[in-house]
Amino acid sequence: MGKDVIIACDFPSKEATLEFLSKFTDEKPYVKIGMELFYGAGPEIVREIKKMGHKIFLDLKLHDIPNTVKKAMSVLSHLDVDMCNLHASGTVAMMEAAIEGLTRPDGTRPLLIAVTQLTSTSQEAMENDLLIKEPIANVVMHYASNAKKAGLDGVVCSPLEAGVVHEKCGKDFITVTPGVRFADGDVGDQVRVTTPAKAKEIGSDYIVVGRPITAAEDPVAAYRRCVAEFVG
Ligand code: C5P
Repeated sequence: MGKDVIIACDFPSKEATLEFLSKFTDEKPYVKIGMELFYGAGPEIVREIKKMGHKIFLDLKLHDIPNTVKKAMSVLSHLDVDMCNLHASGTVAMMEAAIEGLTRPDGTRPLLIAVTQLTSTSQEAMENDLLIKEPIANVVMHYASNAKKAGLDGVVCSPLEAGVVHEKCGKDFITVTPGVRFADGDVGDQVRVTTPAKAKEIGSDYIVVGRPITAAEDPVAAYRRCVAEFVG
């Protein structure tokens, strides 16, 4: 499994995104496009960044009835993204339908990753709002197992959980981990953070890094530092 650093391009517009990416002249970082940019700029932004030679993780976190997710995944697959995701809480049937929709006629497909419980969901909210009474760590692991059962490639999780996920679901089950900060950097609103080097040690396969790169004085240098620490 090749390790890589994915830059979270959380910009409000196509122009701001392309301006940011134009700073990278020697390398073509893996790019995460989220809901804000996708809904604002439309699918064209994906085609354009892809044409520039970047790999794309399209972070739209689908969650609907299996048939709708299957059809939507088929559209995303034709957009030629490299990785996309959905909510594991949509059930195993929904995840299986997603794989079906994502698979191209030649048998290839983008990587498909599941969100387990959002890191913004507390134990209290899960119990009171969702009526799930289990400890959140058990829920995360159960959803990860469901994702594996449905044939998905991995999960989004905290870098601190990457080791346990690999233990339970196998070393080839991919862990994509946000919440990464440099040892001497700002934590911002992230709570459970770790450094690129530590994420590597614990076993993350991909780290998703936003502001430590996008808000850095020298984003290219910050990206290179991430790659040096994480990929080596
Ligand atoms: O700027 P920062 O490095 O915190 O960005 C992390 C990225 O990963 C953001 O796009 C954020 O929405 C995303 N993310 C996260 N935690 C999750 C899932 C996604 O931080 N559990």
